[in-house]
Amino acid sequence: MIVLAYMGKTVLSGIKPSGIPQLGNYVGAISYWAELQNKYDHAIFPVVDLHAITVPQDPKVLSHQTYLTTAIILASGINPKKSIVFVQSDVPAHSELMWLLTTVATMGELGRMTQYKDKSGTAQLDSVEKALSEELREAYKIAHAQIDTNTSNVDDMAAALVKIQAQLKAKSDLPKLQRYMLLLKLLEERRRDRMGAGLFTYPVLMAADILLYQANVVPVGEDQKQHVELARDLAERFNKRFGETFVVPEPLLRKEGARIMDLLDPAKKMSKSDNDNGCILLTDSPEIIRKKIMRAETDSGHDIKFNPVIDREGVHNLLTIYKVLSGKTEAQIEKHFAKSGYGDLKRELSELVIAKLSPIQKQIDKYMKNKKLLERILNDGAQRADKIAQKTLAEAKKKIGLIT
Ligand code: ADP
Ligand code: TRP
Repeated sequence: MIVLAYMGKTVLSGIKPSGIPQLGNYVGAISYWAELQNKYDHAIFPVVDLHAITVPQDPKVLSHQTYLTTAIILASGINPKKSIVFVQSDVPAHSELMWLLTTVATMGELGRMTQYKDKSGTAQLDSVEKALSEELREAYKIAHAQIDTNTSNVDDMAAALVKIQAQLKAKSDLPKLQRYMLLLKLLEERRRDRMGAGLFTYPVLMAADILLYQANVVPVGEDQKQHVELARDLAERFNKRFGETFVVPEPLLRKEGARIMDLLDPAKKMSKSDNDNGCILLTDSPEIIRKKIMRAETDSGHDIKFNPVIDREGVHNLLTIYKVLSGKTEAQIEKHFAKSGYGDLKRELSELVIAKLSPIQKQIDKYMKNKKLLERILNDGAQRADKIAQKTLAEAKKKIGLIT
């Protein structure tokens, strides 16, 4: 029997104070939180500063960003009386439970996290692989697939390697491929050597954030779904090993808007972590918003239709933002723009984004001018969070056999 810290269903999600939140954070996450807080018995929204410092942050601006991110959450409609809003590092149980969960997590599962692979450069290596000749690429793929499927048993793996070598010999380009693979390995090792270990253990801290509050659902953008699934795996493993302790959480993705793309490069997600002209910051002025949207990448077509095919991602992205912010159906939107061109869509979308963001921006200013109020809200949130977190942490320690 799980010792629930409290009764009812809990929704929980976090955001890093690693820059100024952008439109993707709002559309995919924060605006959804505001809706969900009323549908659950408990709603918990930490500003996850310990996650932000997995990449270097300027100590002088980190605290400002933490206040600003809090102000943005509140200005977007999160009610601090109903929801618990707090700063992660104010509740020490997050770091403590993280350690306990680190002893349950495996190097393999953490190494498979897409965000880690992106940041450690493994994803870049994939693009090097793409540049290989057709034949080498084929051989390389076979090698990888066979190794992956046999990782559990060393003998099987060795046998697979012999088979792969025979296949590669048949492809006649063995020396070239071997050189390439060696180079690849060296490059990967170099990158990993220099990488902060926090980027590797990052999802374990996130699992601690979630499991401490026995969260049932975790609304996130698509990029974070895999991390929530890891939290599920860790909860299940811990429960199996030590007895029922944690609620197993579910990721919850918004039907539309879980992946807003960069306006200039619709192949990558909009992110505050690499903010450029393709990223609308929630603090951008109307002029800047208009400029960024008018410059958004589109294609040479003219049909304003929802259709996320290759080469049309740009327009689809603009339409998705329009849909989530306007609350209209696809049919209504397509009908509305039936006789219009991309320029009209961009102009109307700019005005819609400005209309949505300007009241939020006014609220943000209000909160930022009243740090005392922000501090009061965060202190109250940390106290409420700490009570729940301490209970779960004590239970987890007890189950493991630590003296509490
Ligand atoms: P960022 O990637 O901009 O640094 P965070 O990692 O702090 O943002 O993300 C906070 C929340 O916003 C997460 O739930 C994340 O999945 C969501 N999110 C981030 N970028 C996008 C996007 N482009 N579209 C939809 N949701 C997003
Ligand atoms: N890792 C998430 C991100 O990069 C932020 C996060 C930290 C989070 N802890 C969380 C999200 C707990 C949901 C639940 O966006």
